[in-house]
Amino acid sequence: MRTLFFLLLLIGLVACRPKPQSTQSAYVHPSVKTKLVSTGGVTCANPYAAEAGNSILKAGGNAIDAAVTTQFALAVTFPLGGNIGGGGFMVIRWHDGQTQALDYREMAPSGASRDMYLDDFGNVLDSVSRYGGLASGVPGSVAGMVAAHERYGTVPFGKLLAPAIKLAREGFPITQIEANRLNKYKNDFLRFNRAPIAFVKDSPWQAGDTLRQPELANTLEWIGKQGKDGFYKGKIAQAIVDEMKATNGIITLEDLAQYKAIWRKPVLGHYRDYQIISMPPPSSGGVTLMQLLETVESFRMDTMAFHSPEAIHLMVEAEKRVYADRATHLGDADFYPVPMEGLLDSVYIHQRMPAIPEKATPASAISAGDLPPEEHKNTTHFSIVDSFGNAVATTTTINSAYGSKVVVQGAGFFMNNEMDDFSAKPGVPNQFGLLGNEANAIEPGKRMLSSMTPTIVAKDGQWWMVLGSPGGSTIITSVFQTIVNVTEFGLAGDKAVAAGRFHHQWRPDTIFVEKGVFSPRVQEALRKKGHHIFERGHIGAVDAIFRTDEGIELVADPRWDDGVD
Ligand code: DON
Repeated sequence: MRTLFFLLLLIGLVACRPKPQSTQSAYVHPSVKTKLVSTGGVTCANPYAAEAGNSILKAGGNAIDAAVTTQFALAVTFPLGGNIGGGGFMVIRWHDGQTQALDYREMAPSGASRDMYLDDFGNVLDSVSRYGGLASGVPGSVAGMVAAHERYGTVPFGKLLAPAIKLAREGFPITQIEANRLNKYKNDFLRFNRAPIAFVKDSPWQAGDTLRQPELANTLEWIGKQGKDGFYKGKIAQAIVDEMKATNGIITLEDLAQYKAIWRKPVLGHYRDYQIISMPPPSSGGVTLMQLLETVESFRMDTMAFHSPEAIHLMVEAEKRVYADRATHLGDADFYPVPMEGLLDSVYIHQRMPAIPEKATPASAISAGDLPPEEHKNTTHFSIVDSFGNAVATTTTINSAYGSKVVVQGAGFFMNNEMDDFSAKPGVPNQFGLLGNEANAIEPGKRMLSSMTPTIVAKDGQWWMVLGSPGGSTIITSVFQTIVNVTEFGLAGDKAVAAGRFHHQWRPDTIFVEKGVFSPRVQEALRKKGHHIFERGHIGAVDAIFRTDEGIELVADPRWDDGVD
């Protein structure tokens, strides 16, 4: 009896152990934009697009209606990554608990081939997978929006494009950040375009200048009237193909006509008391996020201090292992037998890191795991919730800033350079330093592996957190950190998003850290464990929505121009 009493006391003491204080003042970006609402709202990369999406919610539309409007509004107000010339993923949790994943990722053109980015000596050609027409996959965004609307929309499709058309035709004032970006890429724009484009003017762009895009306004008006065929057939399709021919591209009219958005089964997993709903292949996001969460789940990170060396060490060690799996096992599951069950098998995930290593494990000592056999036979983000209880997480991209830099003449939009997300050659990293293999080799019609991780976390039968991020390979770790910042470290939503971020992707064997995040003491402790640290600029841009006791909290990442409405 006495023993039982002491045992219970001990358990109580451990459970009540106060969380250790962080070994440093937690670095957070100061100007986080939040808004507390009672029904629904939008958080995305641009305040005008957030306002456009929310105007649909206010008029009685649902989260999908608002998502369609936001996607098209971002194509106007956020030319860096918002798009109709690219693709993306949408994760949906409907109020009745139904979950869906929509894949509108770009597709390799029919003329694509495995070695298309290699020279005669087998070396990867510099830049052709990133600049100009040959970098583009067949765009999926318009098909995606039409598919989402067909299944869930309640407002007529044409009406959903009206805010974007207005923004494109009348223009909107650009921010300092956008002005700087447009100035930075001016030479690329001039190099890869034959005719004047809306994004180039003689004098440098300044904050407050109006960006008008009349050609894009006409294109959007046409899509609004004609739906999917307005983009994939007829004059816009012809304009895309003409642009491809002029810029070394290979997308054909048939490629466009055959493009389809695909409904897929989301990655569903459990982590602590939460249900995780995220994107399956051709994104690596959902599988990799789930592997990360499951790896750290058993190590009581909630007893570690936020941004302490021990917590960072644990997360980084998990990241190395799951990114090694990503490089080998993940690709478009319609073309490659992605071992989803094995990758998501709890026993397998646990075996990959049964204990927290004392010292940093060198990347060279890690490789993709030997998966258990399949016994039974997986950039710009916006989050939206509505008053009906529906939640939508969408990440969409043209890959690099302004995609391939090629604007479709007469149609006014940037084409993507998503082909760079394929593995051009095993062992040669892409622009994000990511390695790939057979699973992500180029094949006609195949979709390139992505890191985009639109994610919904549900709890007690309703959505609880809606989030995602841009940032290439750092997307998954940005989403991972935001979730654990709340669930393990007890940070409020705004702090969880604003908190400094770090990232490890197995290769290179380095922890990338936002400047100023780790104090010299934390860095020293990590170096002593054998980690290499490299400070860099912003990592990710998480636009998230949190359900709180006070209401629904919309949170825009403070790092850029993101906004809430
Ligand atoms: O799909 C992917 O993983 C990449 N094309 C995303 C690119 C990206 O996030 C760039 N933005 N920062």
